[in-house]
Amino acid sequence: MELRRYLAIVRRWWWVLVVGTAVAAASAFFVSRAMTPIYRAQSTLLINLAQQPAAPTYQDVTTSQALTKTYAQLITSRPVLEEAARQLGGGVTAERLTGVSGSVVQDTELLHVSFEDRDPAFAAQVVNAVSQVFAKRVRDAQLGQTSSAATTATPTSINTVFIAEPADIPHVPVSPKTSQNTALGAIAGFLLAAGLVALLEYLNDTVKDREDLAKLELPSMGVVRRGRRKGGPSLLDPAAARGALAEDYRQLRTNIEFASRAGEVRSLVVTSARSGEGKTTTACNLALVLAAAGRRVALVDGDLRRPGVHRFFGLPNQSGLTTAFLSGLEALDGLLRVGPQENLLILTTGPIPPNPAELLAGPGMSAIMERLRSLADIVVVDSPPVLGLADASLLAAGADAALLVVDARRTRAGAVHLAVDTLRHSGVRIVGATLNRVTSEGVGYGYYYVYGSGDDESQFATAETGSESNGRRRGGAVAGTSRAPTRGERG
Ligand SMILES: Nc1ncnc2c1ncn2[C@@H]1O[C@H](COP(=O)(O)OP(=O)(O)OP(=O)(O)O)[C@@H](O)[C@H]1O
Ligand SMILES: [Mg+2]
Repeated sequence: MELRRYLAIVRRWWWVLVVGTAVAAASAFFVSRAMTPIYRAQSTLLINLAQQPAAPTYQDVTTSQALTKTYAQLITSRPVLEEAARQLGGGVTAERLTGVSGSVVQDTELLHVSFEDRDPAFAAQVVNAVSQVFAKRVRDAQLGQTSSAATTATPTSINTVFIAEPADIPHVPVSPKTSQNTALGAIAGFLLAAGLVALLEYLNDTVKDREDLAKLELPSMGVVRRGRRKGGPSLLDPAAARGALAEDYRQLRTNIEFASRAGEVRSLVVTSARSGEGKTTTACNLALVLAAAGRRVALVDGDLRRPGVHRFFGLPNQSGLTTAFLSGLEALDGLLRVGPQENLLILTTGPIPPNPAELLAGPGMSAIMERLRSLADIVVVDSPPVLGLADASLLAAGADAALLVVDARRTRAGAVHLAVDTLRHSGVRIVGATLNRVTSEGVGYGYYYVYGSGDDESQFATAETGSESNGRRRGGAVAGTSRAPTRGERG
């Protein structure tokens, strides 16, 4: 499960990882290209110890290696560099040559002399000049010591320095290492981007998927994927009614019915923490699938601030709930409109009043709800958001339960907790939460479609065609119709 969660994060933020890696790699590449190339020239010297009369002993060998180390130090001595500078001419000073270095090739009598410069030819000239000057100085110094026998001294009786391999003009710069820097830049960029993603994920407390929903400690009533249709998903659209989205709402219906097994949820307020999270869409589609399954449904638009149910069903809204407040309960029946299915009754808001909370808190609303409950198996009420308004709490307090809609990605966990606290403070029973507008990958794992629940399908199809004569219309409460959910339905 954890791996899937990481994969989901990668899928969500892959572009940050790609951009971070690409930008860092490109920066490293262009910076490297802009740097002045430096070339290194190198020669190899062979140090020969003066030949001993007897066969060379172990000590001779170690002495020879120690001598090589000594020469490695001496080769950068000031007199050598000054002499080399003089030979090079052209105003070259010994200071310019302080970068010359000598290094012993381990366990050998070989000595590398090297020098780095922007000018490859000059680098090679310097190395060769220093090598030659050094070799000559070693020879001259020993010949001077043995001056009495100078004329008889042979190269084999003194330590000698041979230039085994003079320096060539280098063609490949030692720095910058463009490809290596680009690769390192890419790795650093990727790590930085991954760190940024981890930080964003840590700071982001929006409810993104099922696991986040589970963390809210609210029963999960379902996950509704994001509909592609402009204006949001509507099961009035025949294509949507047959698709996966309808299955999401059917799953929601099943879970709500299952949660209300004892029949106590006969009126359900659909609400959310903040506006625009999908309350109206959920309430209307839920009413449609409930009606499709043969339940007698009354759908009430309780959002007296931004009503939306009439728009969803394409109904006029000159009269409705507020008219019933004014005209009395007797007028209610005449205000109910029959929906796409005959067993779906719809009460739109009617004219928007200036004091919605007062109306909803009054006894008129309780009487209306009572009447609707007598007409239907379940009353579904669309409502305004919980936070910042008293309306939803008032509506939910007058109903049996509330369903909380949570917008995947947009709703913050903190807002949900606050909404839950507010509702519970008003004594509202929260039946659970539904995660809305989930992307297809968020619908994700652990989700089983309800295949083969034949009665639901046939009822849905029948109701879709406007007929309720499927013989399954049930007179009891929603709970009375409940059945043990299939394994798939329980998700
Ligand atoms: N699952 C979904 N997929 C795609 N779009 C959706 C989905 N649910 C809702 N929408 C769209 O999101 C917008 C807000 O949805 P809706 O009106 O249902 O939210 P609301 O909570 O009722 O808003 P308000 O607080 O304003 O009443 C609408 O345009 C709707 O079509
Ligand atoms: Mg709404």
